[in-house]
Amino acid sequence: MPPFEYRDGELFCEDVSLAELCQRTRTPAYVYSQAAFEGQLRGAQAAFAELDPELRYSVKSCGNVHILKLLARLGAGMDVVSGGELYRALRAGVKPERVCFAGVGKADHEIEEAIRVGVGFFNVESEQELETIERFARAMNKRARVSIRINPDVGDSKTHIKTNTGTRGTKFGIDSERVPGVFKTFAASPHLELRAIHMHIGSPIYGPEPYLRAIVVGQAMLKTLEAQGTPVDTLNLGGGFMADYGNPEHVEPSWEDYARPITEALRPFKAAGGKVLFEPGRRISANAGVLLTRVLYTKRSGDRNVVVVDTGMHHLIRPAMYDAEHFIWPVSVQPSQVPSSRDPRQRVAGYDLFDVVGPICESSDRLGEHRALPPVKRDDLLAVFSAGAYGMVMASQYNAVPRPPEVLISGSEATLIRRRETYEDLVTAESETHPI
Ligand code: LLP
Repeated sequence: MPPFEYRDGELFCEDVSLAELCQRTRTPAYVYSQAAFEGQLRGAQAAFAELDPELRYSVKSCGNVHILKLLARLGAGMDVVSGGELYRALRAGVKPERVCFAGVGKADHEIEEAIRVGVGFFNVESEQELETIERFARAMNKRARVSIRINPDVGDSKTHIKTNTGTRGTKFGIDSERVPGVFKTFAASPHLELRAIHMHIGSPIYGPEPYLRAIVVGQAMLKTLEAQGTPVDTLNLGGGFMADYGNPEHVEPSWEDYARPITEALRPFKAAGGKVLFEPGRRISANAGVLLTRVLYTKRSGDRNVVVVDTGMHHLIRPAMYDAEHFIWPVSVQPSQVPSSRDPRQRVAGYDLFDVVGPICESSDRLGEHRALPPVKRDDLLAVFSAGAYGMVMASQYNAVPRPPEVLISGSEATLIRRRETYEDLVTAESETHPI
């Protein structure tokens, strides 16, 4: 059963009617399906079973502690990129050794904390960062486990320029030709355990082919490292597995479509005792969540129909930031108006086109442009689909609008896993002043 589906014209998440839920939560609200999270994680585990990889869920995609808990229960480790994400993972009960700490700008206090708790891997992005980790580990008389992030100069030409990370000149990783030297310099340190190489080539990666090119670079690097006497036994291929946003030009490969060729390419590495890690985020979380909103006003602006809703770029910045297209549809419709697909660009005979905009004082606050919609009026509820990844985690209080609540649904049970922020929350950190 799909996690979000229309039943007699009413949108349900699992067995909960979202119109009824909105009477309790009010809008806007993020709503997640537990079964969707679990289904995707299990799908990845099953498809990649032969490689027996460690799946480290990318906390940045959707980091509510309760969601981390449920993924950890199913065996996921965590990919974190800040002290705050590490804190979230630990609060969720994740064992520190099952955490990878990535990111180009780890601050000293974050490095110190990660060494103290004993994270599984630092995914190291520069020579200076490695020096810093070594210095802290020495001072603390500890040994830090390190994975060197290679910039393999590989990408997917379809990936948005703002989320392309694996090509030369981006801020990520260490250029391949310098990596052997880094191993030579640091391998002998008693305070470092240089065990792995890491790559994350972008987000999303629309099929297996770019991963295969990255694996070729990775395998050449493994050989070079072995030949120079600094072998590694772990290969982390990062995240990037795409999610279905309904765009028919980007058909979502199944987990098996990714896993088959990647497994094939990594079989010899695995057979020789190698260990494989992945860091999926979006694929696990995007279609596990919707953002529910209410129509405030409808109006004409020039030749356009405008629907003003009670959420926008402050709660879901992806359309404004990446021109991302999220399917938007009313929560309650006539049975004949149930959408036949989730293609954001679909045209339906007899339906007008609308711009769906938020309340923020910027023209970029537009959740959808030229969208075919059944007739909508004030107070109707709309669902913004595929909003589970990079939705709430990127939400802000811009224009001093409190952030929405998060609700997790399992079967017919709905649980508030983050309350709606209040006006008091807006000023809490400003409530005390003192001279410094
Ligand atoms: N590992 C590393 C090192 C990453 O930087 C990322 C994402 C991931 C894993 C997870 O990638 P995923 O499986 O979710 O594609 N805010 C943008 C996406 C930014 C991705 C940043 N890094 C968006 O809304 O499209």
